[in-house]
Amino acid sequence: MRGIVKRFPGVLANDHVTFDVEAGEIHALLGENGAGKSTLMKILYGLHRPDEGQIVLDGREVTFHSPAASLAAGIGMIHQHFMLVQTLTVTENVALGMNTNGVTLDLRGVRKRLLEISEIYGLKINPDAYIWQLSVGEQQRVEIIKALYRGGALIILDEPTAVLTPQEVEELSDTLKQMREQGHALIFISHKLHEVRDLSDRITVMRDGRVIDTIPNDDTVDRRKLARMMVGRDVVFQPTKPPLSAGEVRLSVRSLSADNDQGLLCLRDVSLDVRAGEIVGIAGVSGNGQRELAEVITGLRHATSGDVALGGKSILHAPVAARLEAGLAFIPEERHRHGIIGAFSVAENAILQTHGREPFSRGPFFNFGAIARYSNDLIRRFNIKTPSAKTPAKNLSGGNIQKLILARELSRSPSVLIAAQPTRGVDISATEYIHSVLIQQRSEGVAIVLISEDLDEILALSDRIAVIYEGQIVGILNREEADIETLGLMMAGDTTAVS
Ligand SMILES: Nc1ncnc2c1ncn2[C@@H]1O[C@H](COP(=O)(O)OP(=O)(O)OP(=O)(O)O)[C@@H](O)[C@H]1O
Ligand SMILES: [Mg+2]
Repeated sequence: MRGIVKRFPGVLANDHVTFDVEAGEIHALLGENGAGKSTLMKILYGLHRPDEGQIVLDGREVTFHSPAASLAAGIGMIHQHFMLVQTLTVTENVALGMNTNGVTLDLRGVRKRLLEISEIYGLKINPDAYIWQLSVGEQQRVEIIKALYRGGALIILDEPTAVLTPQEVEELSDTLKQMREQGHALIFISHKLHEVRDLSDRITVMRDGRVIDTIPNDDTVDRRKLARMMVGRDVVFQPTKPPLSAGEVRLSVRSLSADNDQGLLCLRDVSLDVRAGEIVGIAGVSGNGQRELAEVITGLRHATSGDVALGGKSILHAPVAARLEAGLAFIPEERHRHGIIGAFSVAENAILQTHGREPFSRGPFFNFGAIARYSNDLIRRFNIKTPSAKTPAKNLSGGNIQKLILARELSRSPSVLIAAQPTRGVDISATEYIHSVLIQQRSEGVAIVLISEDLDEILALSDRIAVIYEGQIVGILNREEADIETLGLMMAGDTTAVS
């Protein structure tokens, strides 16, 4: 890609970007939220047309008018947000949009080839399952198989690990190395610097639409150096936390059980108290009930037995809105589904739950001045990259959508905050900021439940750590008793690790 320029209204997303990738190479693309990584890759994939610049593939200049054209040229892309059809099976999704040459599609042939690919690259999948039945990790495997099915000489992975469990990340990196062996050219976007260090051959860093540098991934490269290149300053990786001064119990979960989407028991007899001013981390491999726990607490899922109380009062039968009213805030894991309304502006999303209240409305009238002041303040404080508060939220980069939801939820002064994977997909300086905000909320007496698969994050922030395995809390440790080793064992269901 040579001299690529891409403008959106009010944004220069790519500013004369020059970038190349070789066969048999994993090339990492790094940069803060909104730096222009996805845009560059969407241009390569034919989803956006560049305003200037050229794309040269195998020595020939090419122009892609659509993803179909780039797919035909051997380019595949695994998006930051999956693009699978939920109501179709794995096989049907892989077959979707394939050139049938006028012949009816041979689904059985697709299924057979799909199983071969899954074998070669170690991508376990049930070809007959519906997409809605699959975990995020499995859905991603489908996306990768889809790309490989069509040849995939060059495969772009836009934050493939953001949604994966540590085990799935391991599997994915084996798959990627396998693909490199086989001569595929891979472009890998991630905010996790250790992954970039582990996996890539070369690293390109972008900032504000420009390429800062492309460097080989050698011994001189470390987290600090990459962070400096991305952000342009030194980054704090370990936040400082004042000593714990916990108050009364704000959130009480009693003998809670619930079923998952498939109707299977996914929470078994979970009990947990969270006090004002403390952060309780929920550590666990994804799929062990932590998402459902958050959903039952916030009212997105029914409990089959047990109770949830907020400030001593049961909220088990209260609708979501009443729980929010009662002081609960929720940073959902699936932010695109539960977190924002894409067609609404940044400002409208910022007041999603509070629009009916002063100062945002008075009687039947909106106070647009107050709404604008409030949303501009959030944009500034949380450093949300957007041309204006009037921009539709769906135009924001992935990480900036997350910052918007965080900003909205945290600024409602909640009494209890459920934060599910709060820094997933956000860049290092935003992570640094979010951590400092959570610690500040803790100091202000908010009771915080931190659900995270990132053990470094759990250890950095939590006062107590509850480990969840197969829907049960297998142990609760004080921060001093916890280390990566013990937590890892407990997360794998080894209860002898609990002292
Ligand atoms: N379709 C669009 N319309 C308008 N603006 C857009 C659109 N897509 C991206 N942008 C803007 O272009 C800039 C670059 O966005 P991009 O998605 O490429 O960032 P990114 O580096 O992938 O960030 P992240 O790490 O958050 O995913 C951002 O300011 C974003 O708001
Ligand atoms: Mg992106």
